[in-house]
Amino acid sequence: MENQTRISIDASHKKSTISPHIYGHFAEHLGRCIYDGIWVGPDSSIPNTEGIRTDIVEALRRINIPVLRWPGGCFADEYHWKDGVGSLSERRAMINKSWGKVVENNGFGTHEFLRLCELIGCEPYIVGNVGSGTVLEMQEWLEYMTADADAPMPNWRRQNGREEPWKVRFFGVGNENWGCGGNMRPEYYADEYRRYQTYARNHGEGNLYRIACGASDFDYKWTEVMMERAAKYMDGLSLHYYTLAGDWKNKGSATDFSEDEWFITLKKALRMEELVQKHGEIMDRYDPEKRVGLIVDEWGTWYDVEPGTNPHFLFQQNSLRDALVAGVTLNIFNQHSDRVYMANLAQTVNVLQALILTEGDKFLLTPTYHVFDLYKAHQGAALLETIIEQAATYGNGNDRLPQVSLSASEDDQGRINITLCNLDNRATAKVGLALKGLVKGGKVSGSTLAAKDMHAHNTFSNPDTLRPVALAGLAISDGELNVELAPMSVTLLTIE
Ligand code: AHR
Repeated sequence: MENQTRISIDASHKKSTISPHIYGHFAEHLGRCIYDGIWVGPDSSIPNTEGIRTDIVEALRRINIPVLRWPGGCFADEYHWKDGVGSLSERRAMINKSWGKVVENNGFGTHEFLRLCELIGCEPYIVGNVGSGTVLEMQEWLEYMTADADAPMPNWRRQNGREEPWKVRFFGVGNENWGCGGNMRPEYYADEYRRYQTYARNHGEGNLYRIACGASDFDYKWTEVMMERAAKYMDGLSLHYYTLAGDWKNKGSATDFSEDEWFITLKKALRMEELVQKHGEIMDRYDPEKRVGLIVDEWGTWYDVEPGTNPHFLFQQNSLRDALVAGVTLNIFNQHSDRVYMANLAQTVNVLQALILTEGDKFLLTPTYHVFDLYKAHQGAALLETIIEQAATYGNGNDRLPQVSLSASEDDQGRINITLCNLDNRATAKVGLALKGLVKGGKVSGSTLAAKDMHAHNTFSNPDTLRPVALAGLAISDGELNVELAPMSVTLLTIE
């Protein structure tokens, strides 16, 4: 059949391990992500644990988020951590110049963030300040958090109520230093990176993973310069890429968009493949063993803010289209997990492509959240080889995209998980999966996230418009599994 996609999956051919950290997230002091989102304060009537909203913690635990990046973003290069420790009355307020010039009272600081990570059960990824901070300030932050000595910084931490050092493995040396982090040239930042990272010392278990600021989008020169001049001093190099339906002036609406915008958004999201490939090729030349991880620590959709909301707060709704963007992007990361070690969707609550939206005590899970719930099956699993033997396409005239995106892995229980997206907003995708090397019998189950309306999204009054439902009637026959994927859907199939 011509309009069918045929894929072979070889369970005996395991490629790389899918790092759980690919399923990471990002929370910045921006709009209502931290304040009025994650942090409601201990005196709030909204149920909380030491000021941290309980429903958010529970939801993030359910999807096993492995790592959370903080405090920015652009905010990181303005943030002075010493203002955010000690009793609230001692904390010095500041103006959040990156995001609307609102007054930041520093009520949520190092202790609160690391407590949040403990409650979620995830690793912290802390970004230090290169743009407006000093080497000493960065050095002392790591000492404060991770050193056990009888010395000024650890003793200050103890005075502030935390006896044991925290485990902080992931540490970013600046953010977007080509832009909001200091407008540096790559040659200059490479030298600054080398200097700052020298004093970003290991105090804990000796496994500090230093992440250098990487490129924006298609800036391959930045990657080239960083790898040439500083590769041996880094463990990870970042990359930022946002998917816009329009351009930076008119980014498009999150919920009111045309079929063309649906297509364009997905076409742009699929460019992550090219980015990972090309930045990866440059990294390969300097690091053929793939020691340095590609850390896509900001990605996701970026639309115009919801009408009537503060333009600096980046609050947007989240529809079925966002679910598809998440699904295809995570498939790309899985397929490139030999190089992509971590990725962090921007941003967890109430900002950009959020997992969760809140308003007062109201709370909802977005379609993007449900995609992370389906895909968590891949965390730490072995990527399986998938060969597209025949690819159906969809689109207008010559402007065409593959109808289906997928990745497959085998977990430590021998279960095979296959995640599939049908990008087509009109047609069902007919997919034939030829399964080779199956060890287990072949009981198949599935869940799918879909809707008839491309604009479908969850609201506080209808929070479950979009959520995964079970797929029935799945069976393997003669090593073949034939499935029909609804238009605009994200599906998980599990074979055990
Ligand atoms: O995620 C919003 C902003 O996008 C971040 O602060 C910055 O790093 C990027 O430009």
